[in-house]
Amino acid sequence: MNPILINGKEVAQQVRAGLISQIQELKDRGVTPGLAVILVGKDPASQVYVGSKVKACAELGLKSFHYELPEETTQDELIALIHRLNADPEVHGILVQSPPPRHIDESAVILNIDPRKDVDGFHPVNVAKLVLEDETGFVPCTPLGCMELLKSAGVATAGMHAVVIGRSMIVGKPMAHLLLGKKSNATVTIAHSRTTDLPGLCRTADILVAAVGRPAMVTRDFIKPGAVVIDVGINRIPDATRPRGYRIVGDVDFDGVKDLCSAITPVPGGVGPMTIAMLMANTVKACRQLTQEAAH
Ligand code: GUN
Repeated sequence: MNPILINGKEVAQQVRAGLISQIQELKDRGVTPGLAVILVGKDPASQVYVGSKVKACAELGLKSFHYELPEETTQDELIALIHRLNADPEVHGILVQSPPPRHIDESAVILNIDPRKDVDGFHPVNVAKLVLEDETGFVPCTPLGCMELLKSAGVATAGMHAVVIGRSMIVGKPMAHLLLGKKSNATVTIAHSRTTDLPGLCRTADILVAAVGRPAMVTRDFIKPGAVVIDVGINRIPDATRPRGYRIVGDVDFDGVKDLCSAITPVPGGVGPMTIAMLMANTVKACRQLTQEAAH
């Protein structure tokens, strides 16, 4: 089988293009969507992600407020900054890059973000809204991006068996809820490290989403012929032939499985580019909702 290669760069570009008229409409009303991005500490991978988020804002004409705080920043100092951003009418989205340093309790920090500005969709109010299928809430960007990729490939999810490997609050759980919801109507199984006979279970999947963070864990024996495979993994593995000394691989053994799939996302160039596009979409949504509320 020759699989459809799902092109995340292209779909991300389409999502961004779709935001342009909404952003213009807001600007015509005198409002520019603004995103605050906070990084505590100097984790190099996080610095790259945060830089990409700030750059994406600039490309779309959004305002960004970029905070790089020292490693020693206390939880109270971070929360005090969040309270200032909650009150700032120029800020519509607030994101604290994860993971924070160990002395900071991430859940406690997230609880202090105004749920209406929680463009990551991590606040319990937004988790609840996802489960309730209340579309005023915010859904984490990576699973939201995966849904856009499925749509772009014309995957009819209704009635299909979707298996999501991974139960994180950032990807696995929200992904399962999106697939289960009335817009998708898939039958969903969430698998994890303690699942019995993981390959056997995955072989019953029409749609397989891998979000575990283990390089090339999903091999040929996990795949039902004709399955759609979404690979959320971004894993660095040492590679002396590359200038940086590593390369990025997904959770799926792409070359080993691709001829069995009807459609598959590559890594890089699949899910990765979608996350930031969906963050921009969530920021525009937050701005629209906040400024409409203010007009009432
Ligand atoms: N770290 C890795 N992915 C994410 C994300 O989607 N949001 C935030 N805030 N941090 C992350």
